[in-house]
Amino acid sequence: MTILVTGGAGFIGSSLLRQLAPFKERLVCVDKFTYAASQDNVPDNVELYMADLADEEAVRYLFEQETFTDIFHLAAESHVDNSIKDCKPFIEANVIGTVNLLQLALEKEVNRFMHISTDEVYGSIEDGGYFVETTSYDPKSPYSASKASSDHFVRAYGETYGIPYFITNCSNNYGQNQFPEKLIPLFINNIIHNKPLPVYGDGNYTRDWLYVKDHAIAIDLVFHRGRNKETYNIGGFNEWKNIDLVRLLCKKMDSKLGRPAGTSESLITYVKDRPGHDLRYAIDASKINKELGWKPSVTFEEGLEKTIDWYLANSDWLQHVTSGTYQEYYKNHYGS
Ligand code: NAD
Ligand code: DAU
Repeated sequence: MTILVTGGAGFIGSSLLRQLAPFKERLVCVDKFTYAASQDNVPDNVELYMADLADEEAVRYLFEQETFTDIFHLAAESHVDNSIKDCKPFIEANVIGTVNLLQLALEKEVNRFMHISTDEVYGSIEDGGYFVETTSYDPKSPYSASKASSDHFVRAYGETYGIPYFITNCSNNYGQNQFPEKLIPLFINNIIHNKPLPVYGDGNYTRDWLYVKDHAIAIDLVFHRGRNKETYNIGGFNEWKNIDLVRLLCKKMDSKLGRPAGTSESLITYVKDRPGHDLRYAIDASKINKELGWKPSVTFEEGLEKTIDWYLANSDWLQHVTSGTYQEYYKNHYGS
């Protein structure tokens, strides 16, 4: 078996590669190496291709070089704030990129197309409600609109042309190797450097958080034991208001860095809200739990400890991905 993982040099893709690496399948990763990617994220026994999935010729070339049995599709532009500034790269990567990949998967008759998506496609939900697999799509940000579109194309290729597929919609991930633009790694990095912690609006927005390794385990489980054409919601059963999460993070960082209690909290700065900010995401992950026996393996406290420890132990990685020198490195090695 040769498995293609797209976006494997990013946060969740690299966690999935680490999950799959001990097994006997040959692993190939294709990645555009955007600012969010790093080769340091990718395990050694993985074959790497640098290509933009929005470039149909490049995708075609890849499928001429390799015969893939299965695809895990994670490559995407993934940051909501960037999509608000400029949605075009999101349409290119998330919509066109997905359609190019589906087309080649169809032509080359791959066995399974695993599409990794987000709970944001469902929009925001009021207190007490939960997203289930049949919840209507109601994306609010340009990012979630592009992901919703990609989900629809996967189902369309499945229904129209018969591609075997699975879709997973997951809540907010945290853990090692996440580019420090998202809430948790951004705030860890800022605390290390005594920089302000920009909390959007009043901080009373709610997210459900899942440790990235548990997401990778869930994807692997759906791949091996999921039912064709099914959607599986994945979540941490772990809701936090942003401000409460930030305060917990501050407390833990003070203790890890040996700083007096309250030092990191004093960095909290309330800033202008994100336009169209979804108030609450809440995943009901009981389908994957009941059908496949999956549940998170670590508590939030444990996952957060592991995450903080990883960032503190990998200051070189943080420095590297924020400096931009790594991008030069790839240009020199692989061309543009
Ligand atoms: P990430 O930004 O860390 O990584 C994305 C990877 O895709 C990067 O390596 C990037 O270089 C690559 N990429 C981007 N555009 C590409 C293109 N046109 N061609 C080839 N490669 C390209 O993102 P992530 O957080 O690891 O998210 C991975 C997937 O999981 C995405 O599809 C995202 O929508 C989904 N997801 C993310 C979360 C989360 O909390 N981060 C939650 C649920 C679902
Ligand atoms: O729910 C799954 C989604 O989670 C994924 O599909 C996305 O790829 C991923 O980026 C994430 O989206 P969010 O917008 O929820 O994540 P982010 O870390 O950007 O923000 C989390 C919350 O924290 C959100 O309510 C906005 C807030 N926030 C974020 C940043 C970066 C702040 O208050 N300040 C910040 O500086």
